[in-house]
Amino acid sequence: MKFLVILYIVLFKTSKCFEIYKKFVISFLNEVNSHQGIIFHCGDSFNFRHFYEDNQNYYLSIHHLSKVNENNIETIMQVNYHKIGLIIDTNCNETLDLFNICSTLNFFNASYNWFMLSDNFSSSIEQLNRQNINLDAEITLAIIDKNASKFLLYDVYNPSYKYGAENVITEKGTFDIKNGFNITLNGTKLERRRNLQGITVNVAIVATGVQENQTLFEYLESTDRPLLDAQHRHSYGLHKILSEKYNYSLFIHRSTSWGFLRNGSYDGIMRMYNSSQIDFSITPFRHTIDRSFLIDHTLTTWVLAPMLVFRHPKKSLRSPFLMPLSPWVWNMILIFIFIISCLITLTMKSDKVKNVTLIRAFMNAVGVMCQQGFTEEYRKSSVRFLLITFILFSSLIYQFYSSYIVGSLLTDQPKTINNLRQLIDSGIDIGIEDTAYNHDFLETTTDPLAIEIYNTRILKNHPEGNYMDVNCGIEKIQKGNFAFQVETAYAYRLIEGKFTDDEICELHQMYLFAIRLLGVTIVKGSPFKQLLTTEFIKLTENGIISYQNSKWQKKKPKCIKSVTKIKSVDLNDTSWVFILLVTMILMSFVIALCEKLHFLLIFKVKIFKKFSYKTKDKNMKIKKTNS
Ligand SMILES: *[C@@H]1O[C@H](CO)[C@@H](O)[C@H](O)[C@H]1NC(C)=O
Ligand SMILES: *[C@@H]1O[C@H](CO)[C@@H](O)[C@H](O)[C@H]1NC(C)=O
Ligand SMILES: *[C@@H]1O[C@H](CO)[C@@H](O)[C@H](O)[C@H]1NC(C)=O
Ligand SMILES: *[C@@H]1O[C@H](CO)[C@@H](O)[C@H](O)[C@H]1NC(C)=O
Ligand SMILES: *[C@@H]1O[C@H](CO)[C@@H](O)[C@H](O)[C@H]1NC(C)=O
Ligand SMILES: *[C@@H]1O[C@H](CO)[C@@H](O)[C@H](O)[C@H]1NC(C)=O
Ligand SMILES: *[C@@H]1O[C@H](CO)[C@@H](O)[C@H](O)[C@H]1NC(C)=O
Ligand SMILES: *[C@@H]1O[C@H](CO)[C@@H](O)[C@H](O)[C@H]1NC(C)=O
Ligand SMILES: *[C@@H]1O[C@H](CO)[C@@H](O)[C@H](O)[C@H]1NC(C)=O
Ligand SMILES: *[C@@H]1O[C@H](CO)[C@@H](O)[C@H](O)[C@H]1NC(C)=O
Repeated sequence: MKFLVILYIVLFKTSKCFEIYKKFVISFLNEVNSHQGIIFHCGDSFNFRHFYEDNQNYYLSIHHLSKVNENNIETIMQVNYHKIGLIIDTNCNETLDLFNICSTLNFFNASYNWFMLSDNFSSSIEQLNRQNINLDAEITLAIIDKNASKFLLYDVYNPSYKYGAENVITEKGTFDIKNGFNITLNGTKLERRRNLQGITVNVAIVATGVQENQTLFEYLESTDRPLLDAQHRHSYGLHKILSEKYNYSLFIHRSTSWGFLRNGSYDGIMRMYNSSQIDFSITPFRHTIDRSFLIDHTLTTWVLAPMLVFRHPKKSLRSPFLMPLSPWVWNMILIFIFIISCLITLTMKSDKVKNVTLIRAFMNAVGVMCQQGFTEEYRKSSVRFLLITFILFSSLIYQFYSSYIVGSLLTDQPKTINNLRQLIDSGIDIGIEDTAYNHDFLETTTDPLAIEIYNTRILKNHPEGNYMDVNCGIEKIQKGNFAFQVETAYAYRLIEGKFTDDEICELHQMYLFAIRLLGVTIVKGSPFKQLLTTEFIKLTENGIISYQNSKWQKKKPKCIKSVTKIKSVDLNDTSWVFILLVTMILMSFVIALCEKLHFLLIFKVKIFKKFSYKTKDKNMKIKKTNS
């Protein structure tokens, strides 16, 4: 009893017992983890300077309430520290004025820890009832309990002053000089403040695919037609969980785009933000500098990864049969076959073996090269030695060649189009998904390659810009020779359903611009920021975001062809063998004709000669008989 009377006198009336007052202020600042305090009082004889000098660790600014007004309050409250403890005596006559000023300037928020001293509970509650107190406010109402010589502490917040909710006052604990603070609150701040009393919050979403026989809510809650507005409906699913958990409902404003800066003003959702029409947006946003003046970004919920997707053209410059060896090696082999045949012929000729021709030696050499053996009988050991070496050489080449072919059939063809430059050079047609961010990117980019793509590959053939919807674009991808810039998270869902295994294996992708992180945004200074940030972290932690991702996003389908079937060499690749065969057949036919002609000619000459001999003989005989 004695204690409290002293304290009460100290706090409100005089400064006689300075040590007690000091202890009280320090324990409050320690309790709120702050070293910055502002004291508003209406007493007249405190010796505060003395206190300040004693405790260099704690910075206190002390103001008489009669000297605080609209003009200087902002300077007083603006201390470069993230947490400020404020101690105010609510029994003063000027308190209500200060409260009204703080209300308009939104000082009842998480940045300030208010400690309000009062000796009358009901009058203090009445004072606070009309104030703009935030959901995240840190207000402790300390009512003096003269009988028990302690303060009774109450926690005060308002789910939403803007939407007309009532102040919520809960018991917080006690404070006395001997034991300090005894806080009995359970759980975290947000856990305690879970009931927003069914207020309706204004939010915005991009929804372009709502059908005529459907309400917006039906559309947002359904998961059919998952290609449409996937990011937005994904995010709606998360916001819905929060609204149910926190007992508020959403008044959804519909828009067609995020909102980009055009001619100095925004469109889409950003315009709603700028006109304070909404508190936060369900549609996730990318962080850009111009937006950050209006909105706060919190957690990333969606990774936007639009890519150029196309079927990689099968480009075999040379046929698979020639591929294993370079043209140099092929030429060297031919040259060596020729040299070997020459050597064999020469050696044999020098040995005066009969029936030796270059052609026969050449055929034998080709036979050896193709692992077919040879028909001649070579007796000279020099020739045999040459042949053995050549057989070894040919079998080494042959081994390498055939294993290369087997190997290349088992592995995938390497993809040769791997960057934008190669894509431009490949001559593949390019289309763009018709979304706001693609329009914005192409119209504002400074990336020279993207500009080149836009000017030379898109605008040239399609003055309108070749924008199309996902279904259309994916059909074109399937037809081939077409690259489509599309958000892959949902495009791959469609592709997986439509494409054959072979087509999936040919799929290739590349970035036109880097991935973008889309996250929850909220209007600057909103009381819901802490709620959304903390809760989205929890949703990530609980795996609910992953669950939503699995509903709305699809990874690139895996190429499973190599497991199920081995690629066969097709006619395109082998045609040249057949062409070669046909030409050779024709050539041999021509050669056969030539030979026939040649034969006939020789035959005729011979017959003619024979005939002339015969007649000569006859003549001779006749002459002889005559003679
Ligand atoms: C508060 O106002 C009342 C009357 O309006 C006055 O009697 C009282 O002295 C004032 N108190 C202070 C601390 O100024
Ligand atoms: C507390 O304030 C209320 C209303 O302001 C008043 O009716 C009541 O008399 C006050 N009580 C004390 C003990 O001053
Ligand atoms: C304080 O004690 C007085 C009598 O001693 C009693 O009338 C009053 O109700 C008590 N007040 C509280 C808040 O307990
Ligand atoms: C804190 O308050 C509770 C309930 O009022 C009480 O049971 C507990 O003993 C107090 N603790 C201290 C350290 O005073
Ligand atoms: C804290 O939890 C205990 C036990 O669950 C409960 O009895 C008490 O009322 C709670 N206190 C507050 C302030 O909610
Ligand atoms: C939600 O708020 C309304 C209005 O205050 C209230 O009637 C209802 O009980 C609350 N629901 C929950 C689950 O707290
Ligand atoms: C709306 O119409 C489409 C066809 O236009 C139909 O497939 C769908 O089932 C209808 N939805 C409802 C809710 O009636
Ligand atoms: C910007 O202003 C110019 C001239 O007023 C107009 O032609 C153009 O269409 C505007 N652009 C947008 C995106 O509104
Ligand atoms: C925001 O709104 C104000 C009017 O409230 C307007 O003057 C300003 O141009 C808008 N800013 C943008 C970037 O749209
Ligand atoms: C609290 O309000 C002040 C003044 O309006 C502002 O500067 C500060 O950023 C706000 N803090 C939070 C956490 O919103």
